[in-house]
Amino acid sequence: MAFEVRPLSDVLGAEVIGLDVAKPMSDETFARVHQAHLDYLVLVFRSQKLTPQQHVAFSKRFGPLDRHPSDDAVVSGFPDILIVSTRKENGRYIGVPDGGPMWHSDLAYKKETALGSMLYGIEIPDQGGNTGFANMYKAYEALPMDLKKAVEGKRGFFLAGRSNADRSFKRPLNEEQKERTPGNVHPLIRIHPETGRKCIFANPQHTLAIEGMDEHESADVLSALFEHTAQEKFVYRHQWQVGDLTFWDNRCTHHIADHTRLDDPTYIRHMHRTTIGGDAPFYS
Ligand code: SIN
Repeated sequence: MAFEVRPLSDVLGAEVIGLDVAKPMSDETFARVHQAHLDYLVLVFRSQKLTPQQHVAFSKRFGPLDRHPSDDAVVSGFPDILIVSTRKENGRYIGVPDGGPMWHSDLAYKKETALGSMLYGIEIPDQGGNTGFANMYKAYEALPMDLKKAVEGKRGFFLAGRSNADRSFKRPLNEEQKERTPGNVHPLIRIHPETGRKCIFANPQHTLAIEGMDEHESADVLSALFEHTAQEKFVYRHQWQVGDLTFWDNRCTHHIADHTRLDDPTYIRHMHRTTIGGDAPFYS
């Protein structure tokens, strides 16, 4: 199937034009999409019309799916699809309204962290709700020498609950979900398993502390690291349209959603997310 890949920015991201991902895809077409994903880190497929089955089927081309701990915020009959939504029913959010309020990569606290996520825009507000994506290869390559020395080869503690402790999520994990999501130790810098390139893996939403480092020093180093990774020069901000399917690489990007209108009852942002499972991060 012929399609075009058009870069969205100098930093990362490309639009895939002329491909209906709901249709059966040849191995050759899939190989080109896969390569574009490795090259551009975030792919955007516009004007898609996906049933949950088609969303899951396309996601599974990249590998087995993994699940978010919020197993009570999924599409009925599709436990692999997380609802990311500001919609409420009977006064309660039907999905996760604020999944990404801090820079992070999905499921970074699991032992085997996610390869990528596919977020499908079903209802998009006329203003706000953009998603920022940051290139962690570029952030690694631009690390100042002292910071590089402080983090290279080190490991950190990653936990899903960190953000819940730091700020009140609209729909935090419940105690049972937290209990079965214990957190893990991962390298702060990882080697991407497919490209072999180094990138920053620690993120502000999930990385609590650096292993073997004094508490205050660890807090200072992480704060400097996260100030570095969030610089606009590493970021592309995606402005959503209905029918966008955005597929990002969780191994070498961070993302953050703009939730400034979350308390506005007229603000409806409704999406479906699948998450493709990946490997335990390694550094050497
Ligand atoms: C997420 O972190 O997976 C959600 C991102 C978004 O809502 O834009």
